[in-house]
Amino acid sequence: MTDRFKKLSTYLKGINNKDIEFDKNFFSDSENNFFLINNQIPNFFIGDTETSQVTNLQDKFYNEIKFPNYDDLDDFSLLIDKAKKSIFAKILDEQILFGSKILEVGCGTGQLSNFLSRYKRKIFGVDLSENSLIMGDDFRIKSGIENVYFMKMNLFRLLFKDEYFDYIISIGCLHHTQDPKKAFFSIEKKLKKGGFLVLGLYHKYGRIYTKIRKRIFSLLGKKAFFLDKYLRDKNISYEKRLTWYRDQYKSPHEISYTIQEVLEWFKEKNLKITKILPLDDLNEYSDIFKKKNNKIKNFTLKEMMLALNVNHASEGGLFTIIAEK
Ligand SMILES: C[S@@+](CC[C@H](N)C(=O)[O-])C[C@H]1O[C@@H](n2cnc3c(N)ncnc32)[C@H](O)[C@@H]1O
Repeated sequence: MTDRFKKLSTYLKGINNKDIEFDKNFFSDSENNFFLINNQIPNFFIGDTETSQVTNLQDKFYNEIKFPNYDDLDDFSLLIDKAKKSIFAKILDEQILFGSKILEVGCGTGQLSNFLSRYKRKIFGVDLSENSLIMGDDFRIKSGIENVYFMKMNLFRLLFKDEYFDYIISIGCLHHTQDPKKAFFSIEKKLKKGGFLVLGLYHKYGRIYTKIRKRIFSLLGKKAFFLDKYLRDKNISYEKRLTWYRDQYKSPHEISYTIQEVLEWFKEKNLKITKILPLDDLNEYSDIFKKKNNKIKNFTLKEMMLALNVNHASEGGLFTIIAEK
């Protein structure tokens, strides 16, 4: 065992090299000796020259805004109550197998990673934002969760062994990178054969309203905040509204896609699609990891209709593709 791994295993209590396997380059890469942030988060960040410009911008930006906001979530049971209000999060929790290894890429403050931590799963949450990771880890410690590991890592330089994870989840992250397609290939490499990828990205048409509101806000300021469902809701704390505002309207870099464009990436890697949201129906009985037999009828038309789907747009205009490797 190298010194590096010894040092790491002291910090990641209870973890042994069967639980976590790193890429062999991790040990030979002496340029980046890992150290702990705030005495709790291993820093495995390695730059990537081609994408570093945007990575540095996002690092700085998300270190300030810490998304999503924990707000008044004091304990794990409240987090469970909150997450279960989202049918998607509830289904993920119900359908991800017992004991599986999960990587969450761009986990932010780690709410999803912490939420999925039951059922003896092992979850690795990676992000750039040190402050978000610390926030997620503080919640983890407070809640007595021992099987979630937060780490600072660049998704373009993931240090895990290839084909290692049963599930890889990345919601709302890749579109904030310089090269989302390259990012997709980078994370897909870490997925096992038979494993599942859950990828959420901004939709080109669903995002139109956000772009219009952004313009209006820059002209009229706060007066126009009533145009956004969350910003006008006084039942939501000021902190939380501010976080939403910054994430949605102030991000230094975002790219949006059509579903058809992103499906090409999945095709290139031969991944089998199991669900496309919101084009496929989602209800409590949907099996999101079962291979789709039926093609979506009128795909192009349905996708174009997302431009008129106010509900979809007010939630930030995300679409999610789930696929099996
Ligand atoms: C909008 S937040 C999404 C947080 C969370 N997944 C959610 O859905 O609430 C995007 C996150 O992606 C992270 N991120 C952006 N570029 C990254 C990179 N190159 N490597 C790792 N994380 C990155 C940011 O730090 C930020 O926390």
